[in-house]
This record gives sequence, structure tokens and C-alpha cells, in this order.
Amino acid sequence: MNILLIGSGGREHAFAYKLSESKNCDKLFIMPGNPGTAQHGTNVPINPNDFLLVGKFCIDTEIDLVIVGPEEPLVKGLRNHFDADEKLKQISFVGPDKKGAQLEGSKDFSKAFMKKYEIPTAAYETFTLKNIKSGIGYIKSHSLPVVIKADGLAAGKGVLICETNEDAAKEFEAMIRERKFGDASSKVVVEEFLKGIELSVFVLSDGTNYKILPSAKDYKRIGEGDTGLNTGGMGAVSPVPFADKIFIKKVEERIIRPTISGLKNEGIHYVGFIFIGLMKVGDDPIVIEYNCRMGDPETEVVLPLIKSDFAELMKKCADGKLNECELQIDERTAATVMLVSKGYPGDYEKGKKMSGSDQCENSILFHAGTKLNDNNELVTNGGRVMAITSFGNDIKEAVSQSLKNAEKISFEGKYFRRDIGYEFF
Ligand code: AMP
Ligand code: GLY
Repeated sequence: MNILLIGSGGREHAFAYKLSESKNCDKLFIMPGNPGTAQHGTNVPINPNDFLLVGKFCIDTEIDLVIVGPEEPLVKGLRNHFDADEKLKQISFVGPDKKGAQLEGSKDFSKAFMKKYEIPTAAYETFTLKNIKSGIGYIKSHSLPVVIKADGLAAGKGVLICETNEDAAKEFEAMIRERKFGDASSKVVVEEFLKGIELSVFVLSDGTNYKILPSAKDYKRIGEGDTGLNTGGMGAVSPVPFADKIFIKKVEERIIRPTISGLKNEGIHYVGFIFIGLMKVGDDPIVIEYNCRMGDPETEVVLPLIKSDFAELMKKCADGKLNECELQIDERTAATVMLVSKGYPGDYEKGKKMSGSDQCENSILFHAGTKLNDNNELVTNGGRVMAITSFGNDIKEAVSQSLKNAEKISFEGKYFRRDIGYEFF
């Protein structure tokens, strides 16, 4: 079958890597892709948010299956565009429609959904300009820290954890009155702070059946020891040692099943990945957030552990036949270490020449922010540049293999965390 994969980061390189291994994948196109995805298929320089062009490309190249990596085209309704067209709706599609993508696209929607279906999550209230005064009152008497969240997509920056009520009230006003995140913060969720250990569980849903993928933990802070600013993710490990069978059973019974049946009950035919961000509070899983896609860099550790034919898994998912698939998972542990540009997550320079990839052994290099310059040389093209994934019998072994290769790749301003997985050593 011919497959179109949408996206351009390390996550999509990991998807492309898995899809190209499959005997079921004839032609693979990545839109727009990066130099890493180009090793496994053909990059297509079309903006995935230009739905008309995406649809035309699919017809012209006889695409059988579309897989969407990032949230933006989903939240904007790429699936709805396909569903509304006689020809395009014949194409198998992995990714929820606009309404399903609200699980990620609107914090208020996802919180109300969890409340309705009694899925454990932090207590909250939602406010807009209309009830801003009662919001300020609510915040002033809230226990500390207070968590303030912009309702809509805010490029990962819309969540603030405030240590004082005054700070929280100030941020809250900046979001609503000054539109700190534009439309995304015209509605704001104020919620209780959860204290525990974070991890993520990924579910693949065909609307009725589901498969639980390996758990993962990502390391979001820029500095070692989980210090400094939040990033898109500096590394990840999978599976998470404390997410044992008993814990995952709780996640399945208390969260996954009510989520899948709740979506159905809302009339949402959810086909695609559900990324469940969890806090383990005591021994119990509490939902922090849903995303309507896989995580990045979690994908770079979760997908390499899947032994089943990945293109077949995606096709069965799209066609509502996940029950016909058996999910086989590698017994080993996977870890990934992200190489980033100096200055990230603040300002950073691009276009730094990269070398040493050919010296790396026993790791998979997933390109995140790279490109080929006019001289066909590999250069940096983003804050997160490359994810180095390795396997091991345990986290320590997998991480140290990635670290060895992290030393071999050079570019000016390279930075990475040496302590990914530290709490499990
Ligand atoms: P989100 O964008 O919802 O993933 O939030 C970003 C990060 O903020 C999460 O990964 C958590 O580390 C943190 N966070 C969000 N909500 C809470 C909460 N209620 N309690 C504690 N930490 C939170
Ligand atoms: N690594 C977190 C995310 O993909 O949202």
C-alpha cells in the first residue's frame, strides 16, 4: 500500500523508520518530512495545513493510508476534510476528527469530558472574560501551587504552575485580558496541583477496539536533575519501571475504558492515538492531560519496541479492525537522548554543520530539526536537532549507549542531558 505520513520531526522519523520496515508498505511519502525521513521514503514539500493540496496529492499518488503525526492538522480538521469528500473518504486515515482532537485542542473540553465520565483528574474550574472576577476570587483562595492553563493550543507554553496566589492572579489576567496566548487563552482552566511522578501511556484506538502501547517517561526540563525551563522533551525512556502490570491495569480500568466508551457516547468516532499524560499519585494514576497524537520524543522510544508489522497495525486501526492484530512488544528497554541547539528552549541559531553520524553504532538516529543546506550538507534546523535511541537490558544500559553516540555527533553549540532516566539507575 501507498502511505502518506504527515509531519516533520523526530516523531515522524520514528514513524517512517517503522513503516519502511513493513512488507505492507510500497511507497512512503512524508509531508513535509526532514532529511531523516528521506532515508525511508519521499519527502513532499506541501504544508499539511493546506487541506486542498493534501487531498489532491493523495488522489494523484493513489495513497491508501494517511497517518497524521502532529496535532495541528487534526485540531484544524484534516480528517473532516477527508470525510466530507467522496473520493478522499475511501482512503484509510489514522487520526481523530476535529471533535476528537478537542481532547488536546481544548483543556476545558477534556476536563469536562473527564468529569462527565468520572475519569480521575485534578479538580478544576474554567473562566473567561465574562466571569473573570469570580476567577480571581477562586485563585486568591486556591491552595498552592495553582496550575493555570490556557484552554487552546499554545505551542506547549500554555501551562503555568504558580507558587503564590498573587502570581497566579497576574498570569490569569494576562491570559484572559491581555490575550497572552491569543485566542488560546480567552478561556482558562485553573486546577489543583498534583504531586507525584509523571509518565505517559499511549493507546491506539479504532473507535471500538484499542491497544495499549508501552509506557514512557519524558524529561521535559532543559537542565540535569530536572531543572530550568520546560522544553518539548530532552529524552525519554520506555517502558517505565514503576508502571507494572497492576498499575497499567488501573490505568486501563479507570481511564482507558471510560475514555474509549465516553468518546463513543459523545458520538466521536476516535481513530488514532490517545496520549494520556498521567501523574502517579501514591499508587493511583490521575490524568494530567490528553493529546490526540503520539508524544515527541516518546515515539522515538515506544515505536522501536513494537515488533508487530507497523504498517499493518496502522491500516487495521484505520479500518476498525484492531481486534485482528496482536501487538508484540520487545522485552528490552529503549532510551532516547535529544541533542539540542545552544540557547534552546529560548533563542538559538540554526544552520550549524553536523558531522559524526556515520561514526555512531548500535543506536538509531532520529532527525528532529535538521536540513540539507544548498551544498547538500547536513545542518541544524531547530531547537531539538536529533534523538539518539538505543536498546538495553535496563534503562542504564540503553541510556549509556545513547550517550556514547551523543558524544560522537558534533555541531556548534550542541547540548544534551547526561542524566536521562537518572531516577531509575
Ligand atoms: P500539559 O501541557 O497539560 O502537559 O502540562 C505541562 C506540564 O505541566 C505537565 O507535563 C506537568 O508536568 C505539568 N502539569 C500540568 N498540570 C498539572 C497539575 N495539575 N499538577 C501538576 N503538574 C501539572
Ligand atoms: N513530549 C511531550 C509531548 O509530545 O507533548
